[in-house]
Amino acid sequence: MQSWDSLYIYYLSGTGNTRISSQWIAEEAGKRGLRTVVQQIDRLENIVMPSPDEKPLIGFAFPTHGFNAAPIMLKFMAGFPPHLCSKIFLLNTRGCLKLYKIFVPGFSGLALILPAFMLWMKGYKCIGIRSIDMPSNWMPLHPGLREKVIESIIHKAEPIIRIYANKILSGQKVWRGLYSLPADLLISPISVAYYIGGRFFLSKTFIANNKCNNCMICIKECPTASIKLVGNRPYWKLTCESCMRCLNHCPLKAIEAAHGMATAFMIIMSAVNTWLILFMVQALNIEPEAWWWKILTQFISIAVMISVAAVLYLIMHYAMGFKPINYLVRFTSLTTLPFWRRYKFLKKRKENTTVPCEK
Ligand SMILES: Cc1cc2nc3c(=O)[nH]c(=O)nc-3n(C[C@H](O)[C@H](O)[C@H](O)COP(=O)(O)O)c2cc1C
Repeated sequence: MQSWDSLYIYYLSGTGNTRISSQWIAEEAGKRGLRTVVQQIDRLENIVMPSPDEKPLIGFAFPTHGFNAAPIMLKFMAGFPPHLCSKIFLLNTRGCLKLYKIFVPGFSGLALILPAFMLWMKGYKCIGIRSIDMPSNWMPLHPGLREKVIESIIHKAEPIIRIYANKILSGQKVWRGLYSLPADLLISPISVAYYIGGRFFLSKTFIANNKCNNCMICIKECPTASIKLVGNRPYWKLTCESCMRCLNHCPLKAIEAAHGMATAFMIIMSAVNTWLILFMVQALNIEPEAWWWKILTQFISIAVMISVAAVLYLIMHYAMGFKPINYLVRFTSLTTLPFWRRYKFLKKRKENTTVPCEK
């Protein structure tokens, strides 16, 4: 028997997958007569919490980023007040691809385990833990999927989410997300590496090319307020989470993931890092095989790489004011290739969806 009178879903969505998934759950709740609030947590602003006289069920929905929950969602959960309700549920959307007729599922890593643990520490009991495979939006890794493929992945996902919604709304426990626990734990070192290093590097691979007309859409829409104008062109700060909203929403397709520039950055970063480590070993007379030095070098490397990437990015940002450099960066970006589509969540479906109660 359900013991709640309302449903609150707090979601983050870069390109629409998690947004529509939250709306499907809200629709099922609406059919049961529940008051439904579907709240996006962009910039952690204007967030409505349940009132003390309500008995809500609370859900958290978010995309998987680097085998983990999106960092802004983890921050939101870390600051989420305790004791607003007793039961909560989680949904993470993952990137699915389709090779010929085979659906290739995404990987959650720590994306469910970590939030479940964090919220459990706050006294919440997790009754639903589930991942759902939606079209992958990771444009720097692969071109956007074709409409037919997107349609088929969504067609498969929608009933799964609606069933999940009905089960948790009727009070059943769904821990499907824990089935892949061994594999998820196995790849957890990559989740950690992405969280403490990889995501910062990725934030420094975005550029606006000469087509940019300063319409400011990317700046206004960024869920982490990580894009600002520097020298009259968008500039990505280290806080960028690579959610892909800017890259996919830019009407002029002026935003690129600069593969050539990123490769050059990696070569320079590695060279600086190797030189610095060798220099420290000699200057400080350190035993290179010492266990503590091996651990320390990992942290030094991450700090060096992030700092070098940030400095190189700033230099390149100004250098791109010169047309030849701009063209060079642009034409060494895979995202400029004609077949490198952007990810578009199908508009038709978006318009057909009715949301019971959304902020
Ligand atoms: C930077 C980045 C990292 C990603 N990492 C993963 C991942 O580790 N595992 C996975 O299955 N999908 C991954 N994806 C794919 C997205 O999680 C997936 O497409 C998600 O449904 C996007 O949701 P959204 O449209 O609500 O932003 C990643 C996407 C991006 C942009």
